[in-house]
Amino acid sequence: MYHEIHLDKINVNSQPPAEEPARQYFFMAKCRQWVKNFERKNGRLPGACVTTFGCQMNARDSEKLAGILREIGYAEEPDEKKADFVIFNTCTVRENANQRLYGRLGQLSRSKKQNPDMKIALCGCMMQEERVLEKLKQSYSFVDLVFGTHNIYKFAELLAACLESDRMLIDVWEGTDKIVEDIPSERKYPFKSGVNIMFGCNNFCSYCIVPYVRGRERSRDPKEILREIEALAADGVVEVMLLGQNVNSYGKTLEKPVSFAQLLTEVEKIDGLRRIRFMTSHPKDLSDELIEVMGRSEKICRHLHLPIQSGSNRILEKMNRRYTREHYLELTEKIRRAVPDISLTTDMIVGFPGETEEDFRDTLDMVRRVRYDAVFTFQYSKRSGTPAAAMEGQVTPEVMKDRFDRLLLAVQSISAEVCSIHTGSVQEVLVESVNDHDPSLLTGRMSNNLLVHFPGDASLIGKLVNVKLNECRGFYYLGEGGQVSCEKGK
Ligand code: SAH
Ligand code: SF4
Ligand code: F3S
Repeated sequence: MYHEIHLDKINVNSQPPAEEPARQYFFMAKCRQWVKNFERKNGRLPGACVTTFGCQMNARDSEKLAGILREIGYAEEPDEKKADFVIFNTCTVRENANQRLYGRLGQLSRSKKQNPDMKIALCGCMMQEERVLEKLKQSYSFVDLVFGTHNIYKFAELLAACLESDRMLIDVWEGTDKIVEDIPSERKYPFKSGVNIMFGCNNFCSYCIVPYVRGRERSRDPKEILREIEALAADGVVEVMLLGQNVNSYGKTLEKPVSFAQLLTEVEKIDGLRRIRFMTSHPKDLSDELIEVMGRSEKICRHLHLPIQSGSNRILEKMNRRYTREHYLELTEKIRRAVPDISLTTDMIVGFPGETEEDFRDTLDMVRRVRYDAVFTFQYSKRSGTPAAAMEGQVTPEVMKDRFDRLLLAVQSISAEVCSIHTGSVQEVLVESVNDHDPSLLTGRMSNNLLVHFPGDASLIGKLVNVKLNECRGFYYLGEGGQVSCEKGK
């Protein structure tokens, strides 16, 4: 296990070991020496700034980057302009994510002119694209280190090389079948954590770039997952979010196949753990077994994020989603029977190639039928290399914007109604932070994922407390109370 390893005892003048993760600890120790030299020379520790774009998977990967930087001895520097090491963990799911990165890089080049020793690194999904690497080489030559999604576990080794070189170092792999366990990570919150249960995606929805940049689906060994969550629970974590692009197909490719429902049943037994969340569920793989487990579970949160993408069967087929609107509706009815107060949320794309006004109305119709608590709405973004990019009937920006606005209006009025139904009730919330705008208030999260702000003391952060929901303000509540709730059965 990682915490049994003492970096200072590693002889960095010997040959690096070949096996993982020992090899990475060797390079962490090596970088640590560099940090000590830096401190001697400058009278301070070097500062590092990690910035994350994109989804929860990336957020979790960034915790690993931060954990490695902490082990090496870097101080956290929230202001990237002042940092000695800056790393952007990138996303490329939509074109605007890419544009944002180039904008940030442009700004950072000015800071690097003032501090020429600053090292700039880029990693994550966007780096898996050939055209991005070309552009970086041509126009962003001040970047020092570039790596991708498959070799993030090698960060310490790459950093060691980067610290000793003045040239742009690029190490991007096309794919991998490897999962390296026991790399240190730094949790953003002491009381909750994401846990990867699988990597990659095999679904190839026709608009989506994720399978190309994250590679084929690989599930982690259930024993490793349980060991990680047990250690987290022993360290004070009460809520975990199990992460995968399609958690419902977890375990299918393991040597000894295990279902996601079986994994959840085992996670449920872990002492000290109070809440279990997961993301993302693909409707085509949502099983009756899972619905049953959710129905009888005491720890699985009453929230299901079930991306529908479109309400039109014709478009769903072109998207290669492999379900129909009828099947989707059946699923939502089943889950509501099993977990009556469940909150349903979804993702929707407008303007997929060939989408007609009638197709779009089918999407609006699904908003009205399912009555979602929240909908994440996206304008279709063309990703080169995906099948949809070459499809006929690309929708004009004007039509796309018009549909997007109409969808948003429908979503907002329905969600506000749906979210407000808990007014007056008492709910258990996990206190996450002091309120950003009013320090006399705390912010907590309900089982159904809605936030509630209520008066209270910062000592309650990380605790599960009961709060009376006095008033719904659209997508959050104002409440009062805050007595610590007892763990069931204790
Ligand atoms: N694995 C998850 C989604 C990951 S991407 C799932 O299958 O649900 C998150 C969301 O981004 C998707 O649900 C989709 O709504 C949106 N998205 C993905 N590719 C997109 C594209 N090319 N244009 C617009 N939205 C996209
Ligand atoms: Fe993309 Fe589809 Fe995989 Fe989700 S399931 S990551 S939308 S290809
Ligand atoms: Fe973006 Fe990669 Fe996630 S493309 S949405 S960060 S898997």
